[in-house]
Amino acid sequence: MEDIVAVVLAAGKGTRMKTNKAKVVHKIYGKEMVKRAVETAFKAGIKDIIAIVGHKRDEVEAVLGDSVSYAYQEELLGTGHTVMQAIPYLKDRKGKVVILYGDVPIVRPETIQKLITKSIRDEEQATILTAILSEPTGYGRIIRDEDSKVREIVEEKDATDEQRKITEINSGLYCFDIQELILALEKLTPNNSQEEYYLTDVIKIMNEKGLKVGAMIVEDKTEILGVNDRAQLEMLTRILRIRINQQHMENGVTIEDMNNTYIYDDVKIGADTIIHPNTTIKSGVIIGENCEIGPNAYIREGCIISDNVKIGSFVEVKKAIIGEGTKVPHLSYMGDCEIGKKTNIGCGTITCNYDGFKKSKTVIGDNSFVGSNVNFIAPVNVGDNTIIAAGSTITDDVPNDSLSIARQRQLNKEGWNKK
Ligand code: UD1
Ligand code: CA
Repeated sequence: MEDIVAVVLAAGKGTRMKTNKAKVVHKIYGKEMVKRAVETAFKAGIKDIIAIVGHKRDEVEAVLGDSVSYAYQEELLGTGHTVMQAIPYLKDRKGKVVILYGDVPIVRPETIQKLITKSIRDEEQATILTAILSEPTGYGRIIRDEDSKVREIVEEKDATDEQRKITEINSGLYCFDIQELILALEKLTPNNSQEEYYLTDVIKIMNEKGLKVGAMIVEDKTEILGVNDRAQLEMLTRILRIRINQQHMENGVTIEDMNNTYIYDDVKIGADTIIHPNTTIKSGVIIGENCEIGPNAYIREGCIISDNVKIGSFVEVKKAIIGEGTKVPHLSYMGDCEIGKKTNIGCGTITCNYDGFKKSKTVIGDNSFVGSNVNFIAPVNVGDNTIIAAGSTITDDVPNDSLSIARQRQLNKEGWNKK
């Protein structure tokens, strides 16, 4: 079998972000941009990934760890020069190489798969992912000949007025034949307005050699957007948010306000669950069917919520396993806990899971009733069919079928206020 390798360009500086960090370690929905790019490659089935790092490389390497190999671009001399740094890694491989950018983070894995498939099927040595944009300013333009064959890519700064009118742009993502790319890279020169080694020039070089060059126009042009400043970072977060929310709605989840519901990656939600506005659900959370979540709920990492559960307003849950039919309707923090079925957690209840050194667990059984404003001082176990009186601070385990009251008795001093 032939190799499929991805090269992720992540050496650039990101001046317009006005940041002290590497641009590509900025997060979109809790995940670094460069990690998103790498995960796209993995999800597209590419196992062999090389990241080209440069500016603040230590930060990028800290994020990606040993999930990828690295090459170092010492001086930023253009995208062609960036990919040249991968040559020692590529030279003994045959097959395809996909070029991705660390700052183009929301491309779909399916799009990369399609690009590779087209490249193999049509036997192209270069396949460019392109887009049609009504506002193409800033991008390289795709120059096609009379038979609409792709001839070359011309950068905005080197383009004629006529070429600038072209609306088909270069996304910067490609699939190349590995060995032909290496041969073309060796021919690059920095003879252009920016005095850089342009990766885009390999297209012309390959055409001159008589190789087959093709293009695939991306269906959803938001996928190829990159991040150069904070406004674009926000825009991509928004696009991702809507993409994820739409997916959940297609699966039968009701989302009242798409623009104010923040569901991170890899969340599972069952059909007929309703998500009210201003709810945040972090990565990996699992929610069952027919639940009601929010408004103003914060469902953090590690939660598994069964069917028919209500998590109401101003409720934060973390690493909470919540049984079927249980309700946490208002103003609670439930962290590091396991709650059984059909239990009601009163308003203002808190699991005191942290003693300043370590986190401990609260376990509450089935069919229990927790009154308002109860503190559970973890570790603590509460049985099934229990009632916990409002205002209790529970420090000791509560056996099944008990009523537990843990608060000071009220003392009324009659007439005291008159004296
Ligand atoms: C590039 C393309 C352009 C395309 C656009 C899409 C070239 C010459 N032009 O332009 O046709 O429309 O992308 O966004 O390729 N990088 C490095 N080291 C470098 C230079 C860049 O790692 O020396 C990285 C950047 O961090 C970035 C990516 O490569 O992730 C693209 O570089 P950028 O300078 O943004 O390319 P553009 O000029 O926008
Ligand atoms: Ca760019």
